[in-house]
Amino acid sequence: MTDIPEELAATQARYNGEAGRAFIAALPALITTFLDRWNLRPDGPPRYGVCALVLPVVRGHDTRAALKLQLQDPETTDEPLALRAWAGDGAVRLLDHDPATGTMLLERLDAARPLSSHPDTREAARIVAGLLVRLTATRAPRGLRDLGDITRALLDRTPKALARVPYEPVRRLLTDCASATAEVAADPGDRLLHWDLHYDNVLASERAPWLAIDPKPLAGDPAFELLPALLNRFDVDEILPRFDTMTGEMSLDRARAAAWTMARALQNAVWATEEGLPPAPENLEIARRLRSTLHS
Ligand SMILES: Nc1ncnc2c1ncn2[C@@H]1O[C@H](COP(=O)(O)OP(=O)(O)O)[C@@H](O)[C@H]1O
Ligand SMILES: [Mg+2]
Repeated sequence: MTDIPEELAATQARYNGEAGRAFIAALPALITTFLDRWNLRPDGPPRYGVCALVLPVVRGHDTRAALKLQLQDPETTDEPLALRAWAGDGAVRLLDHDPATGTMLLERLDAARPLSSHPDTREAARIVAGLLVRLTATRAPRGLRDLGDITRALLDRTPKALARVPYEPVRRLLTDCASATAEVAADPGDRLLHWDLHYDNVLASERAPWLAIDPKPLAGDPAFELLPALLNRFDVDEILPRFDTMTGEMSLDRARAAAWTMARALQNAVWATEEGLPPAPENLEIARRLRSTLHS
């Protein structure tokens, strides 16, 4: 039987409360069910992130695959829809899926070689941008969450959240983020976005040098995709070089990309504030540097 990692149980309880505990409690039986139903045998220790348990498996005689189990919520339920739409181009292939539980069988990639282990972070940002070009070439399938709706909700929640930010320069910075967001909000785009393409959500493989995993898909503008690669492996001196590398590689309008990235920085700050936490300094620094590019 597969041991459920303690750390995954702890993060599930912390972020998802009772639902998270119930998900963890049900995991062993769920794993047994799918090993049996899809003719799989375990092939190594499980991996996990904040959300999911991923078990390396072999299907039938020799197909190496990965069984992914995660709690179903509005962010995770559309993952198979996106993977199917990409059909392996820039992303991991979906081999099978159970809509009732959200359990997925994925093509096996090399979990020991995430892009986060690449020694050159600027080159890693360029690789992320190259993947984003391919992923966002696909139009979003119908029924996905939509950046227009997300942006409207964000701008509605902003004034109340800002009123709780005590420090004036931070309030002003976030107000500028909201203005930049409002300027691009009317044209939110229709591409299939990944939402969370940071360096641990890119794995090496034999089929392609690098492939994306773990999308939290939505329909929108590719310029909304840059923040994870600036925030993950954060380096203050690399904010603008990485931003320029990515906008260049993706042929994005710099001002629009700055505005959509500020929208995400604002979103993170609003989420933090609503939880009674101060906005993360890295996040604010990214917003600050991008604000300066809007007027240069
Ligand atoms: N297709 C795959 N092949 C091999 N390992 C995988 C695969 N998908 C995920 N993993 C491993 O499982 C971890 C968690 O999976 P991920 O889909 O990123 O979920 P989370 O939302 O928890 O981050 C990854 O960081 C990676 O180590
Ligand atoms: Mg992940």
